Order: sequence, then structure tokens, then C-alpha cells
Amino acid sequence: MGPGALLLLLLLWPLLAPAAGRPPNVLLLLADDLGFGDVGAFGHPSSATPNLDRLAAGGLRFTSFYSSSPVCSPSRAALLTGRYQTRSGIYPGVLYPGSRGGLPPSEVTVAEVLKAQGYATAMVGKWHLGVGPNGTFLPPHQGFDHYLGVPYSHDQGPCQNITCFPPDTRCFGRCDQGVVLTPLLWNLSVVEQPVSFPLLESRYVAFAREFIAACARRQQPFFLYYASHHTHYPQFAGQEYTRQSLRGPFGDALLELDGSVGRLLGALRDSRVLDDTLVFFTSDNGPETMRMSRGGSSGLLKCGKGTTYEGGVRVPAIAYWPARIAPGVTHELASTLDILPTVVALAGVPLPNVTLDGFNLSPVLFGSGKSPRQAMFYYPPDPNPQLGVFAVRYGKYKAHFYTQGSFLSDTTPDQACHGLTPLVPQEPPLLHDLDVDPAENYNLLSGGEVAPEVLAALKELRLQKATFDGLMTFGESQQGRGKDSALEPCCAPRCQSKPSCCHCPPSSWLRQPPFSPPGISP
Ligand SMILES: *[C@@H]1O[C@H](CO)[C@@H](O)[C@H](O)[C@H]1NC(C)=O
Ligand SMILES: *[C@@H]1O[C@H](CO)[C@@H](O)[C@H](O)[C@H]1NC(C)=O
Ligand SMILES: *[C@@H]1O[C@H](CO)[C@@H](O)[C@H](O)[C@H]1NC(C)=O
Repeated sequence: MGPGALLLLLLLWPLLAPAAGRPPNVLLLLADDLGFGDVGAFGHPSSATPNLDRLAAGGLRFTSFYSSSPVCSPSRAALLTGRYQTRSGIYPGVLYPGSRGGLPPSEVTVAEVLKAQGYATAMVGKWHLGVGPNGTFLPPHQGFDHYLGVPYSHDQGPCQNITCFPPDTRCFGRCDQGVVLTPLLWNLSVVEQPVSFPLLESRYVAFAREFIAACARRQQPFFLYYASHHTHYPQFAGQEYTRQSLRGPFGDALLELDGSVGRLLGALRDSRVLDDTLVFFTSDNGPETMRMSRGGSSGLLKCGKGTTYEGGVRVPAIAYWPARIAPGVTHELASTLDILPTVVALAGVPLPNVTLDGFNLSPVLFGSGKSPRQAMFYYPPDPNPQLGVFAVRYGKYKAHFYTQGSFLSDTTPDQACHGLTPLVPQEPPLLHDLDVDPAENYNLLSGGEVAPEVLAALKELRLQKATFDGLMTFGESQQGRGKDSALEPCCAPRCQSKPSCCHCPPSSWLRQPPFSPPGISP
């Protein structure tokens, strides 16, 4: 674009931007390891999710919504930047408490774009995009005014000594040993270590409700990213939700998450901003079936977390905005990568000047047309430029060029999912029609006559892979920078016997019920 065209674009921008006068608030709700089949509205027979079911009934439910990765840190990097994790370097696997790397500050997050436009921004919950020296990778350095949460997975610290509800019971499992106890952070400071699991979600909700109310009072648009730890292993729940579901500890954790959704929607209603708020709910990746009945379910989809089968990356998703979005179900293709471009367009802001992998989903949300997304590219947890993407979906067809199991997807009867199933190049690829066969049971090329349109689809899928891999630029691997235990967050930074001395009672304001977070209201 020449300078003249750019100037014209800038002058015309207010006219091109959406008609809605006021930029909308955005409440982005992210579940952790929640599978395609775990929510009542997505067909689970014994989950109790009344609030999510109401959201689905009153909003737009997606049946072909994809995360960019079958594991957490990469998928979160893509959600916040609209770019595949390979570009930002958030691979292979996930970040650890002492990781030297993190989401590079040069990456532009959706929070940064909106904050520059006058939005108030806050994040609650699981970050998992790095801590770094002096917290350089934490949310306050990536566009969030406020942060309350655990900066990584809550099982990335010894949990055998942590108490759950009822107060004298130990939490399930042992989690990761030899690292600091799981901390709760407020902005850049540790305010409790170990974190109280039974109180955690209710504190998040209290913080989020206060933030919503404060923004509404100021009439300031807001972006709130609520990334719950539910339903990741080890499952926990507050007093109100423990032993309340049919589905055991997993069901209780999901019930608590669902309760939070209800209370956040209540806050939007109480503050009279429901009509001005896009609520979007999804999950970071598929279920961790290695945890057996505590592992979640991908429903009829094949395998789960860690794999490039549908169960690894196809996740539940709901867009809810009664004033603008008609209730219904969409089979259009969409992804977490599309959140940034969509939200930025709704706010009437130009896109950041970076290579984006996402699309503006407005035509799907507002029922005016088809999804601009035609393809989805599936990276394994440990992508590399030699193999490129393992699978490609184009329209209804999906080709697997490589397949591999994952220990995260162990224990179900399907051997293909398991950790001992090695990497296999598939030539010709395994080809599936996902409309006819969403479970990926029937390879269209496995003998017999192949229809001309299937051969045409195969050709297109090969072309899509070659083009995508050819254009992808891998950023420096952040996980490849290794670990340094001195970087693990510690409430007593100068104490002598780490990690065990990183053990502190909660800050005083956390101890006073009812929990009232300071520093949000002006
Ligand atoms: C962290 O900040 C402190 C105080 O500003 C400084 O002295 C220290 O060198 C910093 N640490 C690192 C690892 O950058
Ligand atoms: C966008 O970034 C590219 C590469 O960094 C730069 O050459 C170009 O001038 C930028 N465009 C605008 C409009 O800022
Ligand atoms: C967190 O940071 C924000 C923005 O700087 C500030 O307004 C808020 O008071 C901080 N919260 C605490 C508890 O320090």
C-alpha cells in the first residue's frame, strides 16, 4: 500500500469500522483441557453445566472450532496474538515454572491492541506464557492492567501437601516435584504460596466481578480474559461445588467453572453492560485422557490432548451477545487464532502490523456470510520446519501427513492415541471427510474406487500444506532456552533453602472475608 492509500484508509477508517457506536466489552472465557464432549450442550450425558448450556442456547454454538495446538502454552500464545505458536517461538511443549523463555515482549497481544484504544484490561487465572527474570513475561507486561492468577498449570508444583475441601483432605495426586509450591500472583507479586485451591475460583470471580463493575461505573470499555484452571488435573472445587455433581471430581470442577460463568454473566447484567459485551467461551485444547475418569472427554472425536487428531484441538466454543448475535449453531470453520482479528475489528481498530494467521469472524457471528477461514493447520506439540504441519483441514476434508500418539492421550481403547505409538509418515495421507466421519474412522483412500472430488481434495490439501509450510517462519524456540530454578516465583525471594522456603501465608487482604480485591476501582 502506498502512503496515499494508507492516508485514505486512515481517514476513511471511522466509516469502514462497524456501525455500533460504542466499542464493545469483551469477556473471553477459557477452560483448561476441557474436551469437545465435556459440556452438557455439546452432548455429555452426566456433566452439569446449566450456565454454559444457557449460553449455548442463547448464543452461537460452534461445532468446528479449533485451537492452534493440542497443548497449553502454544495454544494460549496463539489465542492472544492471532499467530501460530511457531512464529512466537512457544514450542516445543509447554513452559515450566523456571523457564528462561516466555511470550516475547515484541509479540502484540489482543490486550495491547485494545489497551492502546482506551480499554481497561485484566486477566484472571492461568497465564502459562512465561514468568522470566523479575516477571518480564507476565501479563502486566503484555497489555493487561491487572493480573490475578497462577502463572502456569496448577499441577506444576508439588500438590501432595496442599489441602482441598473438606479442609482436612489432601488434594488428589502429587503433581510436579522439585519446584516451588504453586503461587498466586497479583500483578507481579506473589501474594500466597501455596495457593488455596478451594478458594481460588471464588477469588477469581470476586476480582472479575469487581473489575466489571468498576469499568461499568467509569463507562470504560473493557477486555477481561478469564482463564480458569478448570478442568485441568488435579481437579479441585470450592466448598459450594464439592461432591455436587454426578460426574465425580471432574464434574465438580466443571460445575464450579460453570458457576463462575453464571456469576460473571450476572455481573454483566447487574452493571447493565450485557448488551454491550461479547462473551466468548472456549477451551485451550482437548482432554488429558491419561487421567482416566479425571481426564475429560472428546466425545465422538478421536484421541485428545497432545495429538493432531480432532480430539486434540477441536474444542467447544460459544459466542454470546444477545443484542447482536442470533442464537443458533454454526458448522463454519473457526479458530482461537481468529479471536484477535475479530475483536479488534469489533472495536474499530486497525489490525497490528504483523503477520497474522487469523480472520475476522464477523460474518459468522452476525449471520451475514460464510467463514473467511477455509483451512486449519495442525501442529504437533513439538513442531519443526522439516516435517511442518502434521495435518491439514480444508473445507470438510482433512489429511494426516504424519500421525503420532501422545502420553497425554493414553488409557482410552484406541491404540493410535497412546504415547508408545510412534511418529509415522503417511504417504498417501490418511484422508477423512469430517462432515460424514467426524470421528476419523474411515480413510477415504483405503482401497476401492476413489471419487474424483476426493482426489481433487487430496491435491488441494497437499498444496495447502506445501504453501503453508513454505511461508512459515519459525521464531526462536522459547522452551529451548532451558530452565533456571532461580526464576521460579518465590514469595520470599532471598530465602536460603529453595524451593521449600517459598512458603508464605496469604497477604492480609486475601484473608479478610469477603474477599475484596484492592486497586481496581479508581
Ligand atoms: C530484578 O530487578 C532488581 C531491582 O530492579 C534488579 O536489581 C535485578 O538485577 C533484576 N534481576 C534480574 C534477573 O534482572
Ligand atoms: C509494517 O511493518 C513493516 C515491516 O516491519 C514495515 O516495513 C512497514 O512500514 C510497516 N507498515 C506500517 C503501516 O507501519
Ligand atoms: C496492579 O497494577 C495496576 C496497574 O498498574 C494497578 O492499578 C493496581 O493497583 C495494581 N494492583 C495491586 C494490588 O498492586
